[in-house]
Amino acid sequence: MHNSSLTDPSSTAHTRGEASADTAQGLAHAKAILFGEHAVVYGSPAFAVPLHGLAAQADIRYSPGRETRIESQLFAGTVLAAPEPMGPVVAGLRAALEATGEGIAEVELTIRSAIPHGRGLGSSAAVATAVARAVAGLREHTFDEFALHEIVQKAETVAHGRPSGIDAWAVATPAPIRFQGGRATTIEVGRPLTFVLADSGHHGSTAEAVAGVRALRDSAPTTIDPMIARLAELTESAIDDVRRGDRDAIGGRMLEAHRLLTELGVSTPTLGSLVDAATAAGARGAKLTGGGLGGCVLALADSAEQAEELADALRAAGAPRTWTTEVSRT
Ligand code: PMV
Repeated sequence: MHNSSLTDPSSTAHTRGEASADTAQGLAHAKAILFGEHAVVYGSPAFAVPLHGLAAQADIRYSPGRETRIESQLFAGTVLAAPEPMGPVVAGLRAALEATGEGIAEVELTIRSAIPHGRGLGSSAAVATAVARAVAGLREHTFDEFALHEIVQKAETVAHGRPSGIDAWAVATPAPIRFQGGRATTIEVGRPLTFVLADSGHHGSTAEAVAGVRALRDSAPTTIDPMIARLAELTESAIDDVRRGDRDAIGGRMLEAHRLLTELGVSTPTLGSLVDAATAAGARGAKLTGGGLGGCVLALADSAEQAEELADALRAAGAPRTWTTEVSRT
């Protein structure tokens, strides 16, 4: 068990590919969805924040005449022997090499990521973004934000089926974002906000959660559509609250969003008890974040000191790990 800080301003300085001779490095950060998960699938807005201290890193070098190799925590070997879970990385690497206009090349790619997989923190999108940035560095090429997004969405489609695209924008943008209909805009933060993120210890399948909500909506649209509409209202209001720095209002909306997501069937008893533990320990608000059915809970603290108390309470309630992060002006 540990409690590590996510606040690492230096990591924002490394978000572009960096080249030196025939090697290059790319980085990207994790993300958490503060409001609007699931509703975003139906065209509603969503609001995501960067987690700068949790990063994915890709190092790449040319290896002419040898088969392309990938080394990661999951797998080490040639692309041809890569197992299915490496599919998004292979797709991202290919898409990035092709997008430079120079075509496929033999490379050696090393991936290191501190972002836990399957926790709704954007792990697959961050790895793909780091790979694309490393490729850009290697080829001394610049991907604008749209080109980068397109590459990462190709990897995300292999990872998740039909992702809304929020992860791909959120892990590549250093500021909080409002996302809707495939487009992202950055949000000003009126007053720094300290969040504690608690891992439920359970893998959450976003595809399964999205399919569950869809089935519910198909069976009872007149009940579910107003809930989705309410989630959209909460997102828009929370964006205003964040601009004004109104913690109380944000916290209240987090609790309401969690209740709605529970009614949509994407919470679990563990996620529910972590939200209760955070509230009992004095959090302004708490909710599941991301697809649900596992993954993480996000709790809003009053201060960095109170965040420590919240983290203790969340670990006492069974979270195997917690992280503290500050979302501030960029
Ligand atoms: O589980 P995550 O953080 O990748 O979030 C998925 C967000 C959803 O709205 C549930 C799905 C999507 O594609 O936007």
